[in-house]
Amino acid sequence: MKKDSKIKAGVVGWPISHSLSPRLHGYWLDKYDIPGEYLPYAVKPEALGEFLKSLAKKQITGLNLTVPHKEIVRPFLDEIDEVAQRIGAVNVITVQKDGRLFGRNTDGIGFLTNLKTSVPTWSSSGSSNGAVAVIIGAGGAARAAIVSLLDDGISEIRLINRTRDRAEKLAEIYNDPRITVCDWQDRSKYISGAALLVNTTSLGMKGQPPLDIDLSELPLTAVVYDIVYNPLETPLLKQAKLRGNPYVDGLGMLLYQAAPAFQGWFGRAPEVDQNLRHYILEAL
Ligand code: ATR
Repeated sequence: MKKDSKIKAGVVGWPISHSLSPRLHGYWLDKYDIPGEYLPYAVKPEALGEFLKSLAKKQITGLNLTVPHKEIVRPFLDEIDEVAQRIGAVNVITVQKDGRLFGRNTDGIGFLTNLKTSVPTWSSSGSSNGAVAVIIGAGGAARAAIVSLLDDGISEIRLINRTRDRAEKLAEIYNDPRITVCDWQDRSKYISGAALLVNTTSLGMKGQPPLDIDLSELPLTAVVYDIVYNPLETPLLKQAKLRGNPYVDGLGMLLYQAAPAFQGWFGRAPEVDQNLRHYILEAL
């Protein structure tokens, strides 16, 4: 078979039509004039294994995974890195020269790079007293936030989820004395003394109710971070803005999780800038 000189990558999900990844990677391919392609692939969960087996034949070297594949792909991969194992999900696959499939997770990198870029003074280890992070939610996004903050030296994580059991399970998996599970009903109380408040739930997203939380106990220096990006300014971020807290929206997490994957496949570290943000926002 003749080898195409184009580098081929894409994103696989079910459904896939809402994915912003083709637009995002397409922007960088155009910007850097790279002879590559990045396409969406709609693949049902039961067909994922077969699809992944065909990657080498299709000359696809890189793949992003989205819902519902991130958490179910593990048995089809030859190797996954340690961070992806701890997050319990794979969002990036690279087909190696020998055809082996290598999985990793860049959501944690995306989460943290977005935080540090938006708030350059952020330090997970805090000043002399250490930094406390309050994380709302216990799904996949929460796991990425937890792992990246633990690895970055956070002093304490207060984990709060509507279904307390799910938070308890995560605390058990990570088995780290820095994680404490707190009650959902008392969420407005547990933000006292925090340096960071993160919403990892879908609350505040278009069509969803807002995250109902009273910020009056939150220090004014605390960073409020919402991983929701549609709308960009969620009710939670509006509240933070009104009080004068620094705040971080979720669009950067999407962009910064994509950058290391793009670099790995196409060989160029892409820039995340305002033009790209506007270009992606236009599609929302
Ligand atoms: P993801 O992988 O995107 O994080 P997920 O695994 O479905 O998605 O997790 C969604 C998170 O949003 C969960 O923490 C969920 O809380 P439960 O574990 O109690 O379901 C949270 N969530 C979604 N809708 C919610 C709501 N109306 N009120 C409170 N929490 C909500």
